[in-house]
Amino acid sequence: MVTVPEQARREAQRLREEILRHDYLYYVLDTPEVPDSEYDRLYRELQQLEAEYPSLVAPDSPTQRVGGQAAREFSSITHRQPMLSLNNAFAEEEAAAFDRRVREALGTDMVEYAVEPKFDGLAISLVYEHGLLVQAATRGDGYTGEDVTANIRTIRAIPMRLFDDVAPPLLEVRGEVLMLKEDFFALNRQQDALGEKLFANPRNAAAGSLRQLDPRITARRPLSFFAYGMGAAEGIPAFATHGTMMDYFAERHLPVAKERAVVRGLQGLLDYYQRIGSVRPALPYDIDGVVYKVNNLRQQQELGFVSRAPRFAIAHKFPAEEALTQIEAIDVQVGRTGAITPVARLKPVFVGGVTVTNATLHNQDEIDRKDIRVGDTVCVRRAGDVIPEVVRVLPERRQPGSRPYHLLETIGHVCPVCGSHVVRQEDEAVARCTGGLYCPAQRKQAILHFASRRAMDIEGLGDKLVEQLVDSGLVRHLPDLYRLDLDILANLERMGEKSARNLLDALEKSRDTSLARFIYGLGIRNVGEATARDLARHFGTIEALAAATSDQLQAVPDVGPIVAESILQFFGEQHNRDIIRILCTPSPEGGAGIVFQQAAVSAAPQVLAGKTFVLTGTLPTLSRDQAKAMIESAGGKVSGSVSRKTDYVVAGEEAGSKLDKARELGIPLLDEANLMGLLQ
Ligand code: IVH
Repeated sequence: MVTVPEQARREAQRLREEILRHDYLYYVLDTPEVPDSEYDRLYRELQQLEAEYPSLVAPDSPTQRVGGQAAREFSSITHRQPMLSLNNAFAEEEAAAFDRRVREALGTDMVEYAVEPKFDGLAISLVYEHGLLVQAATRGDGYTGEDVTANIRTIRAIPMRLFDDVAPPLLEVRGEVLMLKEDFFALNRQQDALGEKLFANPRNAAAGSLRQLDPRITARRPLSFFAYGMGAAEGIPAFATHGTMMDYFAERHLPVAKERAVVRGLQGLLDYYQRIGSVRPALPYDIDGVVYKVNNLRQQQELGFVSRAPRFAIAHKFPAEEALTQIEAIDVQVGRTGAITPVARLKPVFVGGVTVTNATLHNQDEIDRKDIRVGDTVCVRRAGDVIPEVVRVLPERRQPGSRPYHLLETIGHVCPVCGSHVVRQEDEAVARCTGGLYCPAQRKQAILHFASRRAMDIEGLGDKLVEQLVDSGLVRHLPDLYRLDLDILANLERMGEKSARNLLDALEKSRDTSLARFIYGLGIRNVGEATARDLARHFGTIEALAAATSDQLQAVPDVGPIVAESILQFFGEQHNRDIIRILCTPSPEGGAGIVFQQAAVSAAPQVLAGKTFVLTGTLPTLSRDQAKAMIESAGGKVSGSVSRKTDYVVAGEEAGSKLDKARELGIPLLDEANLMGLLQ
């Protein structure tokens, strides 16, 4: 073993202390004493010494902040004491009610409070044993969190050893990990320059950085920390107040917020709320409110907890941030189900921690209600991670000559993505593209639905595969599915020859299907499985269904004007009809070759045709599904609720309110034997 000269040992010790002091000055007190170059010089000297004499390397050496390899996953840690959450107050009255409850419970007229910013970051527990940081965990569900020790060690504001001559055997510090606004902007500039994804706000950036499995990545992210409380502890002084406890933390070089204070009574709380609210934009970090805590720790104990939150503390939240900007244009987006959503393109504005450039306008009714027009100056709001919204228009700033916005007129009743008709049904707030089978915006959804178990039942055609097939352009429309071959499939990602063969088999099998499944698989709005079955039974062929009028459609049980309208719109779209035609054309002629079995349903005599049943309670021998299947195969329908249209209620043991309803409406009641009798 190499013996370490005493001088080297002392020099290493001196360098370590010097670096730690500069870390503290820079990261905790924000008052650096030396330029970065001087700091780097000290750091390199220490590294060299440690390289020469490895036995000098201590676990809490500043050179050891980034260690180890990337982990496969975070292991979970059970908190010694649960990490609870705070109740929220939004209005002044709620803060007043908090103060009143506290005063009443304590039997005093005036309470002293410790008050702090409510940091908008992530809760963290730090465990120090004999002064050494041994474990760091996220809050998780409050009882167990994730072990993020390696990542937390990279945060220079967090001491790896408490600044203490005789540190307590155990001290669990709780606080918030966050990214300072300034660091967040710098990080995003850097991400941008590297062509990497930008973070939406400092909170997301902090969360994303802390959840890296490779601590070397976290080390490159500028994270900060503020302590705000204590968990498990042994051998620490009996503090009288939260304030003195925070002083104890600060003396041990743990970062605490400069803005913390101690105030008296409700007026003290509200003044603090005002004061922090007014300096909020200038604070170096994002906050979403302030926290009030009864300062006296004995009183805290007396007040205790209700369910998962302390009675002695509350978060007083700031209202969602608002800002003024201008609507430059209104675009429309087509969703996966064809819903057409108007979206305001905004002059970029910084609000609630992010730059907002779009806001959803939801639908025409919303636009009418707020009278939103292109060119308007509007107030936008963003709270938390929610989609920004336009709160109101400032009519006094409206430009002369502006006109109300009409979504359907603007797009000429035509889908901007596929050119199919766009309609708005009477009972609906949203307008929809009717080209469900054709529209690229709805493509993936349409294929997944078509392939689903209760539709064409194409096993193996799941999310990921559909994604690949559509994104690569291999499948644009449903008939393309039936043109896939082994070569193409086996070359896809995550697809071996075996699964390719299985999928081809499943596709082949699906060609031979029932008309009911096929109709359901088309994804016509408002046409579920049961309606599809009724339609198949009633019309017998897809051509007859496609040609049906509204009255003919409404002759089918349970098809009312709305369902009929959806069906008419669907078949009214030429794009959809074309695709159906190709699906049903024999394969030698270039189609997908789908054929319909003579509906199995009509094999059984349709003795219950047109009759609606409701099942309730437990039958002596039949399961609910069996009874349902028997009724349906005899042409009957099973509905979930009793109404005047119900023909029979089949009641078993412990039948409940449906039986009462049936009696009330005078609907014939059957038991299992009666049902079997009917089916004979
Ligand atoms: S004290 C019993 N103080 O807010 C809970 N929490 O809903 C004690 N938070 O997850 C928490 N700033 O991460 C406390 N000054 C502050 C805080 C703060 C932010 C977070 C904390 C917790 C959530 C509570």
